[in-house]
Amino acid sequence: MALITLCSIKGAPGVTTTALAMTMTWPRPALLVEADSSGGSAIMAGLFRGQVSQERSLLSLTMAAAHSSVEEVLWSQCLQLPGAEGKTLLSAAPTFAQAQLTKRVWVELADVLTGLDRGGVDVIVDAGRYATTNAPLPLIERSDAVMVLTGAGLPALHAARGSVAHLQQHLETHATGADALALIVREGDYDAYARAQVVSTLRAPVLATLPQATNDAAVYSHGRRPDRRHDHSDYLRSVRRAGANARELIESRRARLTRPEEQYPTDREENSRV
Ligand SMILES: Nc1ncnc2c1ncn2[C@@H]1O[C@H](COP(=O)(O)OP(=O)(O)OP(=O)(O)O)[C@@H](O)[C@H]1O
Ligand SMILES: [Mg+2]
Repeated sequence: MALITLCSIKGAPGVTTTALAMTMTWPRPALLVEADSSGGSAIMAGLFRGQVSQERSLLSLTMAAAHSSVEEVLWSQCLQLPGAEGKTLLSAAPTFAQAQLTKRVWVELADVLTGLDRGGVDVIVDAGRYATTNAPLPLIERSDAVMVLTGAGLPALHAARGSVAHLQQHLETHATGADALALIVREGDYDAYARAQVVSTLRAPVLATLPQATNDAAVYSHGRRPDRRHDHSDYLRSVRRAGANARELIESRRARLTRPEEQYPTDREENSRV
């Protein structure tokens, strides 16, 4: 169905946590690609609590692909996400220096990831912060939807304003259009602006808001054991809603992008214009 990218602009609004929670609750098989190359894997340190060897990662994929192809070695370099059937992880390289090496496979990886659709696997990409030279642009450009996480306080909106416009412009020129971009707003900022003001300031739709939920978020970011009410928490409800709204956005964009009459007006439309 889709390749979906999550990124932030500044601060740490919870991109990795949200991408992981979204993958683990996704209604179809899904692969999470930790393509944030700012250094180390937050997921191996957090969810896996540093207990699992980092033999398999984007780094080992890059090394293995040098002798064959990304397509051939992809699945052998992924890990099963615990307690989530059909959900896999391609983790980030262990160090910043190693992560820089992985950039050489981004274009080929983007090709392979878009093709996983045919096998019924959706891909969710943690792209880290867009406003850095590390942003995985080849993956962002091939995405069916790009979700920017932000807070709603003044510093967050001030930081996001220029970068969201820049990313929209980038998607317009190098991808399928600026309307692939939507926001996920993390609640809890001091003096947060209302949703309508966020939309008008950043000139992008809001897909969902995420409540401030330290314990529920820590299930994903720190490997905290989920309590009995976690599955029905406001936090997971919001994550699921964000995922469902992303799927809806993708469907409506696809319908529009492939609708022939938008490119070739029908005879009746042609005549009615005369
Ligand atoms: N909705 C939430 N409510 C409360 N805490 C949250 C929420 N989402 C994430 N967090 C917490 O915020 C911290 C940062 O989360 P995370 O690592 O996902 O951010 P990030 O945007 O990926 O940061 P970075 O830019 O460093 O990669 C973690 O401690 C996580 O538990
Ligand atoms: Mg992160």
